[in-house]
Amino acid sequence: MTTLVHGGTVVSSTGAIRQDVLVDGEKIVALLAPGSKALGVDLAAAVDVVIDATGKYVIPGGIDAHTHMEMPFGGTTASDSFETGTRAAAWGGTTTIVDFVVQSHGQRVLDTVASWHAKAADNCAIDYGFHQIVGDVNDESLASMDALIDEGITSFKLFMAYPGVYLSSDGQILQAMQQAAGNGGLIMMHAENGSAIDVLVQQALARGETSPYYHGVTRPWQAEQEATHRAIMLADITGAPLYVVHVSAKQALARIAEARNTGQNVFAETCPQYLYLSLEENLGAPGFEGAKWVCSTPLRSRAEGHQEELWRYLRTGDVTSVSTDHCPFCMKDQKEMGIGNFSKIPNGIGSVEHRMDLLYQGVVDRRISLERWVEVCCTTPARMFGMYPQKGVIAPGSDADIVIYDPAGHTSIGLGKTHHMRMDYSAWEGWEIDGHVDTVMSRGKVIVDGNEYLGRAGDGRFVRRRLSQNLI
Ligand code: URP
Ligand code: ZN
Ligand code: ZN
Repeated sequence: MTTLVHGGTVVSSTGAIRQDVLVDGEKIVALLAPGSKALGVDLAAAVDVVIDATGKYVIPGGIDAHTHMEMPFGGTTASDSFETGTRAAAWGGTTTIVDFVVQSHGQRVLDTVASWHAKAADNCAIDYGFHQIVGDVNDESLASMDALIDEGITSFKLFMAYPGVYLSSDGQILQAMQQAAGNGGLIMMHAENGSAIDVLVQQALARGETSPYYHGVTRPWQAEQEATHRAIMLADITGAPLYVVHVSAKQALARIAEARNTGQNVFAETCPQYLYLSLEENLGAPGFEGAKWVCSTPLRSRAEGHQEELWRYLRTGDVTSVSTDHCPFCMKDQKEMGIGNFSKIPNGIGSVEHRMDLLYQGVVDRRISLERWVEVCCTTPARMFGMYPQKGVIAPGSDADIVIYDPAGHTSIGLGKTHHMRMDYSAWEGWEIDGHVDTVMSRGKVIVDGNEYLGRAGDGRFVRRRLSQNLI
C-alpha cells in the first residue's frame, strides 16, 4: 500500500518546508518537492492513496514518554486500560507511548515486565515501549536492570517520594545509579522529599486542613528542589545520566539548568498541567473539585510564577521534553476516596489525548516556535529514549507515524466533545485550542481520519528501545 501526503508543510525540529511525503507500507520512503513528480512519474497517479494536506502541518506522530495505563496506585487502579488510553492518545495525535512497568516491594522485576507485556499485547492502538519502575532496589532488581537493557527497556524510574510504597533510600538510589552507569541505562527520578512531605501531611490533617488544596501546600517547592539537588549530586558521584520527571517547581528547574551548564547529563521533563494549571485556580477550586488536579509533583502557585518560568525553560532548552504523566482516575469511587482527607486522593491527571493540542496552543500564543513544538513532543522524546530515527522524525526509513495538523482548525476540549479517555471528568474541560488533529497515521495505516477512528486494538507493537541518544 502506497500513500502520498500531498501539499502540506513538513515540520521538523529544525524547520518547516513544503514537501510531499511518500509512504510505502509501514515506512516513509521519500520527501519530495511539492508537485509529486519523481523521475518523470506522476506520483499522485501512481500511488494507492493521496491525502491532501494543503494548508496543514505534517508532523511526526507524538511520543508521550510518561504514561501509567491501568497502574495499581493509591488503593485503586488508573482508569485507562492500554486499549482505551492508547486509543485516546491516537485521537490526540500521539502514536507512541512509553509506559511504566511497576515493581513493588517483594516483586521480581522480570515478573512485572511479563505482566506488563501481557496487559499491553494485542490491546494497544499505537506503538508502545516500557520504562521500569524499580520500587525495591535489591540484588535481584539491580541484576535485572542489565537484563532489561537487552529486552529494549533502557530506562529506570526511582522514587524519592511515597515512603513505604516506592521510596528508595539514598543508598539504594546510589546503587541503582551505579548499575545504570555501568549498563548505559537512564535513571528517571521522581524528585520530592517524601519523608518531609509525610510529616507535613500528618500535621495538616491534624489541623483539620483536609481539602485538596492542602495536597499542594504540603508538597512545597523546597521539597522538590531539595530532592532534585540530591538526585543530581548522587548522579554526579556515579556518572549516571539523570532525567527528572514531572518537574513543576521553578527552583528545581534552576538547579537542573545549573547542572546542565556544568556539562552533567541531567534532563528535565515537564507536563502540560504544570505549564497551564495552578495551585490557586485548580487545587483551590471550591469544595472537593480540586481533587481533579491532585497529582505529584503538585500544581504550583501562579503568584510565585512557576508556570511562566517553566515556559521560559522550555523555550531555552533546559526543559528537554513534555510528557503527560497520564495517570487518570475517575471522580466517582476513585478521587472520592479522599473526601475529608486529601492524602487518600489517588495522585494523577489524565491528559494523553490533549498534549499535542495543548502544546500547539503554546505555538499560537508565541511561547514556543513551531519547530520547538515538534522537538519537545516528538523528536527529543525519541532521542532521549532510544527510538530515533525509527520514531520522532519524518525522514526516509522512519516509521510512517504521521499527523496532519490543521492550524486553521479548532478543538474544544471536554466531556461529550473530544474526550476519549476513560474518565468521568476532564482536567481540561472548556479549554479551546486554535488547531486540530485531522489525520493520524501509525506505521502507514490511517487510524484517525477527521472525526472517525479507523484503528483497532492490537495495531500497536512493542518498541524495543536502544540506549538514550541524547547524552552529552
Ligand atoms: O501524580 C502522579 N504523578 N501520579 C503518577 C505516579 C507518578 O509519580 O508519576
Ligand atoms: Zn512520579
Ligand atoms: Zn508518572
